[in-house]
Amino acid sequence: MQVDRYERYWMWAATGMLALFLGAIVVTAVTGSAHPPSHVETINPETLDVSGEFSTPGVVTNPDGTLTVSMRAEFYVFQPGIVRVPAGRQVRFRITSPDVLHGFQIVGTNVNLTVAPGYISEATATFKEPGEYLVVCNEYCGLGHHNMQGSIIVEAAQ
Ligand code: CUA
Repeated sequence: MQVDRYERYWMWAATGMLALFLGAIVVTAVTGSAHPPSHVETINPETLDVSGEFSTPGVVTNPDGTLTVSMRAEFYVFQPGIVRVPAGRQVRFRITSPDVLHGFQIVGTNVNLTVAPGYISEATATFKEPGEYLVVCNEYCGLGHHNMQGSIIVEAAQ
């Protein structure tokens, strides 16, 4: 079959790109840097204010010294908006939404969750370096989406 030279170049270029993108997916999956949500815990989004951990969101220290942070992502804030945790300790984030789909991404870490009403999303992180980490919503959730952010202040361990 006669294939034009330029057409052949483009076919090789397209095949190369496919291989490159597929390779990127395989590499991130194998090295564990992609975390699809595996934790399916449900909650009634209409009663978050009434009772339970999300009616008083915040940081709780567990008996083993780790921390659990219960948070809400809602029109167009994170509750609490500023979270203070010590460096070097394991922090488990539990987050849900009373309204629509939001995102919860801690910039500079691999914590990146989709927050869906009716579900509790979880991620665990240990912050080695003290400092302020920006939290952004990365799912388009409405007119105030671009203003929806929070911060995590990691304090030096005592
Ligand atoms: Cu919340 Cu975008």
